[in-house]
Amino acid sequence: MKFAKRTDWPLSSNRITVAMEDLRRDGAAVLDLTESNPTRCGFAFPNEMILKSLGNEDNLRYEPLPQGSVRAREAVGGYYMAKGFDVSVENIILTSSTSEAYSYLFRLLVNAGERVLFPRPSYPLFQFLGDLNDVHLDFYTLTYTDRWGMDFDQIRRNIQTDTRALVLVNPNNPTGSFVAKKEKEWLNALCRERNLSIICDEVFGDFPLDPTAQGVSLVNNGDVLTFVLGGLSKTLGLPQMKLSWIILSGPAALVKTARERLEIIADTYLSVSAPVQNSLERWLPLKDQIQGGMRARLKRNLQFLKEKARGGPCRLFEPEGGWYAVLKIPPTLSEEEWVLKFLRKDRVFVHPGYFFDFDDEAFIVVSLLPPEEVFEAGISRVLKRM
Ligand SMILES: Cc1ncc(COP(=O)(O)O)c(C=O)c1O
Repeated sequence: MKFAKRTDWPLSSNRITVAMEDLRRDGAAVLDLTESNPTRCGFAFPNEMILKSLGNEDNLRYEPLPQGSVRAREAVGGYYMAKGFDVSVENIILTSSTSEAYSYLFRLLVNAGERVLFPRPSYPLFQFLGDLNDVHLDFYTLTYTDRWGMDFDQIRRNIQTDTRALVLVNPNNPTGSFVAKKEKEWLNALCRERNLSIICDEVFGDFPLDPTAQGVSLVNNGDVLTFVLGGLSKTLGLPQMKLSWIILSGPAALVKTARERLEIIADTYLSVSAPVQNSLERWLPLKDQIQGGMRARLKRNLQFLKEKARGGPCRLFEPEGGWYAVLKIPPTLSEEEWVLKFLRKDRVFVHPGYFFDFDDEAFIVVSLLPPEEVFEAGISRVLKRM
């Protein structure tokens, strides 16, 4: 029996996973500073309001529409209107997740073996999304000087004749860096010149952390065919509801063709459930309430980290937005050895930098979402160990 080469992934557990499994089996209480599932972080969700709309009788009817129901897309349009963007309903396509949105876009834009440029360090799922869609991954590096910025020369050098798109994560996971205005303008000029589309993942866009950051959105980017991604997993902290969206913009003729083709891709799967679509107009207005608790948590944990890390053995690269923080740690051990030590000696779980493909060692990444008492105890132990 032969399986497709694209699924030839290493299937054995790594040392960190094995150590975690051993601790769980022994019943050890581990402080998990990788936890970024908001439904496991003790937030007070408006449960009744969320669940009530699922009892709607409209959920008993099936009206398949490839782009998603008009009312659900109007709700997404309203969400952007509140952010100051006038997004037309016809340029919104609903998907069941951001990962699915990436897959739709790779199927739309890239022939087998052609290339897409991704940021590094970044979201660990990109390699799998690339493999599953026969996309060759190339990278551009984000480097930290006074902030995490792009190396324009490197981006230019890494574009090949068969590069089809450039991916931005805005703000990026895990560096927390937004796309700066100057970067957007430069990228627009480059992508226009080289005929590339832009895929801009803005799932963390509602979570700025640094009030002085100069980030810009790529919604309604007029110059280049652009696809902005957003969704409920981060905007409402409801990943289990499985609803995301793609916002199209760019030159009108290109947008029209892209929309017509995406419609056929989406029509092939029709993956967004009716109950979730029908609930959207009731769920999105809960945004401020839900995000309020999350933002307060992120702010407090980041403040704690800043104060604790000051003058210590590791350096915090301050995030401009998002749910994560990056710490540069002493290179006296490898990242893996550090993470195993934190786990076995301190019962604290953090991500090693290599999980996000940092160019060099040694980094760790922590989620800022865990409850304050877990975060503070975990960070204190980790810093003491170094
Ligand atoms: C940058 C980024 N994009 C997308 C996602 C996944 O979103 P979804 O749950 O909608 O697939 C994540 C999840 O952590 C992420 O970090």
